[in-house]
Amino acid sequence: MSRTALPEFLSNAAVPTELQSVILGLADVSVTISQALAKGALAGVLGAAGAENVQGEDQKKLDVIANDLIKDALAALPAVRGLASEEEPDVLACHTDGQYLVTFDPLDGSSNIDINSMVGTIFSVLPHTGSAAVTEQDFLQPGRQQAAAGYILYGPSVMLVLSTGNGVAMFTLDQDQNRYLLTEADINIPVEAKEFSINMSNQRHWVAGMQHYISDLLLGKEGPRGKDFNMRWVAAMVADVHRILCRGGLFTYPWDSRKPEQAGKLRLMYEANPMGFLVEQAGGEVWTPEGKILDIQPEHIHQRVPVILGAASEVKICVDYHQR
Ligand code: AHG
Ligand code: MN
Ligand code: MN
Repeated sequence: MSRTALPEFLSNAAVPTELQSVILGLADVSVTISQALAKGALAGVLGAAGAENVQGEDQKKLDVIANDLIKDALAALPAVRGLASEEEPDVLACHTDGQYLVTFDPLDGSSNIDINSMVGTIFSVLPHTGSAAVTEQDFLQPGRQQAAAGYILYGPSVMLVLSTGNGVAMFTLDQDQNRYLLTEADINIPVEAKEFSINMSNQRHWVAGMQHYISDLLLGKEGPRGKDFNMRWVAAMVADVHRILCRGGLFTYPWDSRKPEQAGKLRLMYEANPMGFLVEQAGGEVWTPEGKILDIQPEHIHQRVPVILGAASEVKICVDYHQR
């Protein structure tokens, strides 16, 4: 069976050439990252890097390796004006006439690295609309303005999931030829949710609306929802959202009373916005208790946000519990 390769898919979809170069650059570097992940302990890449990132989180060696690889790959592309990463304190300026700004989470779910479980890379591409010199201010655009967003899931197979604003397509890495081939052309999140995804160990710290919502899901058939729900938590947003794109459900990482000054755990500009763009493009909804995530005006690149995403009707039910 002949399948469409990623470059051909982008040309057929009339994606602007410069944007194609950014997506293809990210696809290429993800192959290198997948190879480092596959070698694991044999390549000495597991374990801690012995440093903290700007958010005060311990970095794994692979967080640093993936960050350096992506940074170098993007900086080499004339279309890239600037970049921002989870692992970089400040935005980095690249080419003065580049059209795009890229934000990324080089390795998502990095606590899974040392247990040989799923991890990912998340990226968001924004148009550059600011002044000649790149500043953080240029990146602070609502998620709705993304030109493209996607992720690479390093699982049993390596997959690239992408939207350029015209639906969601999934590609699988052909590891014999190191190229991504189209395997799902038009993803739609199933309307009815049967699964939820949340770190239950934090239950007692959640905001009251989330406590009530999850309690009612747990009551199953005998409760007000009148049906049983299954639960999954991979601890890598990429893998949890991938499952939601494939078979539906609701994913949430709520605000938590242990760090009341912090809006949530997940980061708006390189986790919630790109994943939110994909979920909306697949017919789902992406909210905080207050409103749609893609409409938020960001205040800084490492800003955090509570996230409720997935099947449209289920997200609305969850948000309603917060507004009661
Ligand atoms: P990262 O590894 O990039 O810091 O992101 C981890 C995030 C996200 O991927 C996941 O949903 C969540 O943290 C898991 O958090 P818990 O360990 O609190 O479950
Ligand atoms: Mn992450
Ligand atoms: Mn990360």
